[in-house]
Amino acid sequence: MSIETILGELRNKIRYHNYRYHVLDDPDISDADYDKLFRELQKLESDHPDLITPDSPTQRVGAKPLSDFNSISHTVPMLSLDNGFSENDIIEFDARLQKLVNLDAPIEYITEPKFDGLAVELVYIDGVFSIGSTRGDGFIGEDVTQNLKTIKSVPLHLLDNLIPYPPRLEVRGEVILGITEFEELNKQRARSGEPLFANPRNAAAGSLRQLDARITASRPLDLFCHSAGQIEGHSFTTHTQFLDTIVKWGLKVNNLRKVCMGIQEVLDFYNHLLTIRDTLSYEIDGMVIKVNDLRMREKIGMKTRSPRWAIAYKFPAKQEVTQITDILSQVGRTGTLTPVAIMKPVRIGGVEVSRATLHNQDEIDRKDVRIGDWVLIQRAGDVIPDIVKVLTERRTGHERPYAIPDKCPICNSHVVRLPNEAAHRCTNISCPAQLKESIKHFASRGAMDIEGIGTKIVDQLVDTKLVSDYADLYFLSKAQWSGLDRLAEKSAENIMQALQKSKTIPLERFIYALGIRFVGEHVARLLAKRYKSLKTLKQATYDDLITIYEIGPQVAQSVVQFFNEKRNWTTIEKLLRAGVTFEETATGTDTALSGKTFVFTGTLLNYTRDEAKQLVEQLGAHAASSVSKHTDYLVAGESPGSKAEKAKELGVTILTEDQFISLLDSIQR
Ligand code: IVH
Repeated sequence: MSIETILGELRNKIRYHNYRYHVLDDPDISDADYDKLFRELQKLESDHPDLITPDSPTQRVGAKPLSDFNSISHTVPMLSLDNGFSENDIIEFDARLQKLVNLDAPIEYITEPKFDGLAVELVYIDGVFSIGSTRGDGFIGEDVTQNLKTIKSVPLHLLDNLIPYPPRLEVRGEVILGITEFEELNKQRARSGEPLFANPRNAAAGSLRQLDARITASRPLDLFCHSAGQIEGHSFTTHTQFLDTIVKWGLKVNNLRKVCMGIQEVLDFYNHLLTIRDTLSYEIDGMVIKVNDLRMREKIGMKTRSPRWAIAYKFPAKQEVTQITDILSQVGRTGTLTPVAIMKPVRIGGVEVSRATLHNQDEIDRKDVRIGDWVLIQRAGDVIPDIVKVLTERRTGHERPYAIPDKCPICNSHVVRLPNEAAHRCTNISCPAQLKESIKHFASRGAMDIEGIGTKIVDQLVDTKLVSDYADLYFLSKAQWSGLDRLAEKSAENIMQALQKSKTIPLERFIYALGIRFVGEHVARLLAKRYKSLKTLKQATYDDLITIYEIGPQVAQSVVQFFNEKRNWTTIEKLLRAGVTFEETATGTDTALSGKTFVFTGTLLNYTRDEAKQLVEQLGAHAASSVSKHTDYLVAGESPGSKAEKAKELGVTILTEDQFISLLDSIQR
């Protein structure tokens, strides 16, 4: 076989797996096997650089930064949509169309979420992704080809999947950033003192329109395709057919689309979308209603800037206007002072809010937020609201600027802002506010899980100096507990029992409970897995920590610092004296399941996926997300999907949930 053929086949294979993973969300090989293929291609290409093609899966981030974006003319203008805000608007829209088509039957509509992102167009010539542009003014946009290439769900080459792709395909869609990804990005920016993005849409736009595509590549953007530009050499009869076909060609289309017969079904689906809106991992701001039949669309026709055959039915806004009555600085577990705006209560999307985070001093200054200001606030997903902007036109001159105090509002110690940090921090390690937060964290569910220790109790314990660190919790007498205000004897007993129960704990939960800066549950698990005992973890050096995949310099340094602090050791030793011991997490010890690989599919009745994963990991096994020939067991819950078929094909042992439980029982005995 010629090297060209080998390269071609390898690229096709990788394209297919990209598609399974990023478009269908249903990979059929393990990450490790995928990485192997990818490295094989990289190696071959580095041996034959002359054979590298721009549509090779290795070529997502290449070119040097641009000095400016080129302009791109859209072959067919990218129109906008009319908006509807009430059921009435939508019923009228349908009535208008009914009149125009003059049919004696309900119109068939296709409805899709209206994605809150940035509109783009992708042009595929002979299957190769050739030009990508923003919407711009609808006629001329910016050339963002290099940036779009970095998005994993954008195929660099279409797939010939039953239906051959056409010689020219222009497809439009929305570039989005997920809510968690948005929050993570803003957290990073707050830490490094960079201005924050107001919402996921702005973050997506800001990330895509980067002259240096390497920055775009570092942001986990996604794309949902939703409409067509010019298509040569292939035609469709309905929009549904168009969407189903482009999925086959490798493009990503959202699954929440529905064909509706008549307007009542449309309204019902709108209400459904509205109820699930907050559970989605990305933001939608309404529903787009489109006539499904493309010939009917032609009959109905266009207006100048928008089609007559479609309408956007917007959701109620998640933004409101209110007034800031005060600004406070809250002291967190690690001593960080976070400024918080206290506002006149308003309802946004069904939730009453009266506080908004101001993140740090830089954010206050950048937005010029003052006490007394009227502000536009918004809620994204389930998060605490953010201030979008100050309505400066409503200022009266009585507004007061705010600066984070230089003395801690709780303990009056010095507050400092370290170089390279955006945050202000209280310097007193025994600051009661820090202590209170650290105790609440210690007792929380993912940590020691001590039920009954809420804010009011912690406040009393700290304020009356009954405890000076979280280890002291274990040394309080029954009389001391029941002496607390509003704590009945029975509750005191319960707390003492919960404390007793918490003394045997998996190492990873203990590490998390310690409250080391930047060590969340996930990192705690990594540390427990690697070091297996507190003693070895204590001796871990920066250089060793940093070799752990997913642990960066910031985390490594924080862990080392924590264990270098004598005071922290005093607390840990106190905990050990109280009788805290670590449950054998069997990682590393030999069980009959050591080294085995499990995959879970379908709905389990007795565990969440995470619990099931944790169980097998505790027994030294490994949980993977997709079935391959390396899988030892597939545990199939209710309504298992394609993974079960794949397992059958590969001869992997399939267990029912009951069989899985018996297997665990037999090993733990
Ligand atoms: S179809 C003729 N479908 O909304 C316009 N647009 O306000 C056809 N948008 O610029 C667009 N989600 O970028 C369509 N599911 C969806 C959409 C969607 C978001 C954007 C689109 C357009 C804007 C119009």
